[in-house]
Amino acid sequence: MKEQLNSLRAKGISELNALNNADQLPEWYHRYLGRKGELTSLLKQLGTLSAEERPVMGKVINEFKQELQVSFEQRQQTLRENKLNQELEIDDLDVTLPGRPCTTGHLHLTTQTLRRIYQIFQEMGFQVYEAPEVETDEYNFQLLNIPEYHPARDMWDTFWVDDEVVLRTHTSPGQIWAMREYAPEPIRVILPGKCYRYEQITPRSEHQFYQVEGLTIGKNIRLTDLIGVMSEFAHKMYGAERKVRIRGSYFPFTEPSIEIDMSCSCEENGCRLCKYTGWLEVAGAGMVHPVVLRNGGYDPDEWSGFAFGMGVERPALLKHSINDIRYFYGNDLRFLQQF
Ligand code: PHE
Repeated sequence: MKEQLNSLRAKGISELNALNNADQLPEWYHRYLGRKGELTSLLKQLGTLSAEERPVMGKVINEFKQELQVSFEQRQQTLRENKLNQELEIDDLDVTLPGRPCTTGHLHLTTQTLRRIYQIFQEMGFQVYEAPEVETDEYNFQLLNIPEYHPARDMWDTFWVDDEVVLRTHTSPGQIWAMREYAPEPIRVILPGKCYRYEQITPRSEHQFYQVEGLTIGKNIRLTDLIGVMSEFAHKMYGAERKVRIRGSYFPFTEPSIEIDMSCSCEENGCRLCKYTGWLEVAGAGMVHPVVLRNGGYDPDEWSGFAFGMGVERPALLKHSINDIRYFYGNDLRFLQQF
């Protein structure tokens, strides 16, 4: 039996070394180390040996098995390396070729602008408050003092989901949400978010856009507080040299209502941006209407507040001299990568 073992070893090892292809390895493995291989049949013969010889031979066979196993793994390793080297040679892989750079994205211009706006208002003590994009007629209009059939509804061309549900046409319904949550405590929030209007898409207008609403409620809040906050904002956002002016306006949910303009960077010389007026529109605003205060849960005899609503894309567009608002949603990388 020992002889048998020795010749098996010699044969096994020499056959293993003769293999020159990794594909041939499984076959060899089967033949020598497999469940039906040569070694197993040797182990089976152990039964024919005497009780003294059996453990001795068993040990020898096991050592032999381990030896074959180790040789097999070494050979496998060598053959794999050979194969890889061959492939590398054949395919002529040029490892010095520079890789393709991975491009990383960055924040969208709108997001960058929004974050700057948050930061400026945060410094003035405003919190960010988010309200729904899909609204009821009640919140989008009625509670803001715009009853059904009120002619002011024409100011907001509306996407109707059904008879009672709309895509919000402005961030103002958020005023009601905030008031109803905080009443009767003072409020100082901005409400950013997307708005929708059923409008023709042109270089100047989109049917989806961002607004940032502002709302403060407190005791003795006056129009001058609103003007102060807006001029602080204009200075921080666009530079200390900017001037702010107000014009009378009309919104059903503010009284009085104003429009806030900011001096153009052309400094009154006139340019196309400001249509040669020297002024740019920044926001619609005013003192919160008593009816709206009441709808929000505040007694107008005790509380007052101001509100404003401004666009986000338009100022970004002005700042970077972008001549078409449609780029903001066009997803054209050539545009996006510039900011
Ligand atoms: N919601 C108004 C609009 O979209 C803007 C506005 C907000 C005006 C708050 C006054 C007060 O046109």
